[in-house]
Amino acid sequence: MAPALLQQPLLDGIDLVALAAAEGTPLHVYSAPAIRERLRGLQRALEGLDALICYAVKANSNQAVLALMAAEGAGADIVSAGELWRSLRAGIPADRIVFSGVGKSAEEIVQGLDAGVARFNVESRAELELLQAIAAQRGTTARAAVRINPDVDALTHAKISTGKAENKFGVSIAEARTWFEGQAAWPDVRLDGLHMHIGSQLLDMAPIRQALQRLAAFWRELEAAGHRLASIDVGGGLGVRYREGEQPLDPVDYVAQIRAALQGFQGRIVLEPGRYLVAEAGVLLTRVLRVKQGEQRNFLVLDAAMNDLLRPSLYDAWHDILRLGDNGGREAVAYDVVGPVCETGDTFAVGRPLPRCEAGDLVAIGATGAYGASMASTYNSRPLAAEVLVDGGRYAVVRRRQTYDEMIAGEQPAGDWRTP
Ligand code: LLP
Repeated sequence: MAPALLQQPLLDGIDLVALAAAEGTPLHVYSAPAIRERLRGLQRALEGLDALICYAVKANSNQAVLALMAAEGAGADIVSAGELWRSLRAGIPADRIVFSGVGKSAEEIVQGLDAGVARFNVESRAELELLQAIAAQRGTTARAAVRINPDVDALTHAKISTGKAENKFGVSIAEARTWFEGQAAWPDVRLDGLHMHIGSQLLDMAPIRQALQRLAAFWRELEAAGHRLASIDVGGGLGVRYREGEQPLDPVDYVAQIRAALQGFQGRIVLEPGRYLVAEAGVLLTRVLRVKQGEQRNFLVLDAAMNDLLRPSLYDAWHDILRLGDNGGREAVAYDVVGPVCETGDTFAVGRPLPRCEAGDLVAIGATGAYGASMASTYNSRPLAAEVLVDGGRYAVVRRRQTYDEMIAGEQPAGDWRTP
């Protein structure tokens, strides 16, 4: 979300203070116009190409967000049968869904095949063999792309870097070459696509360019050897602005790299952005439970915690934090901003200067639309937060706050003892 929106507590005409009062906190809020703007901007940049944006569902898998993507003509990049189910349910057609992931189970492959997904992005020879066996058994042909690992350093956080040879993702170009050469061994798999994804939160064009060049060189080599490709999937990874000084890549510049690398390609180009489309469209509203003066530090204890937003705990990720309301005359205080969960890692920020806060104040954590709610848990038996979508000066609750009953749904006391 643009920082200006956070400073005046209005999001697309909705007063965030009133919204928090009405719906309670912690509350994930998403702006539909902001999501559409990002998506349309990227679509515009792609004009003239046979290109499809397959939104990476993992970034924010809320039904309302997926429905919005469907309405705008986007497809989905999924990594589980659960995401397949969510996407279909939200109205994304199967022929716009690509199935990625290093550990697809046989059951998930069956579900993908039966649904008729556009393409499996295959990540290992064992998976290719499994896909062949399942397609043969079901008397169908599976459409597949090989995910190549271009071995470039995406210059991002190690935990979200995926395109180096040491990472578990994809296969080397040398290995992929043998797949195309040995196609007779998988008669029920139409292997006519390439896929890559080098990492997430990319703010630097150099590794993207390098990876695209390796991908394109391989495509040209395959074409020269008589393998006609129907699709090239360049993955996702476009970064966003989490903190001052960070600058997302311009979609036109990004697409210009794709155009240059894949010039002359006759098939379809697939993109799998997640974060870029939704991160800055979201904000997490949370209330100050108390201000605690520790022996060495000032703690601002919020009612949101690592179970609502894991990124700071997991990746030491920075998210802007703002006190909403009138900050006039309040001096800045450096707070360790923490949640109520019982571990020290439940920390959103360390020594963050904020206007002096009091219990009951409303705080907004910025750019939480991606990998916020989708990575949430009920750790410490904290029910999942509510989510709302804002559009046209109105809001809709798109996930109601979880009840305790819902939180323990499926659990039961041991009573029905069995042997396997
Ligand atoms: N395609 C594939 C195959 C992926 O693995 C991913 C993300 C994407 C597309 C979308 O990447 P994006 O455009 O959102 O960067 N939880 C981490 C991010 C993990 C990303 C995993 N893969 C975070 O909060 O930063």
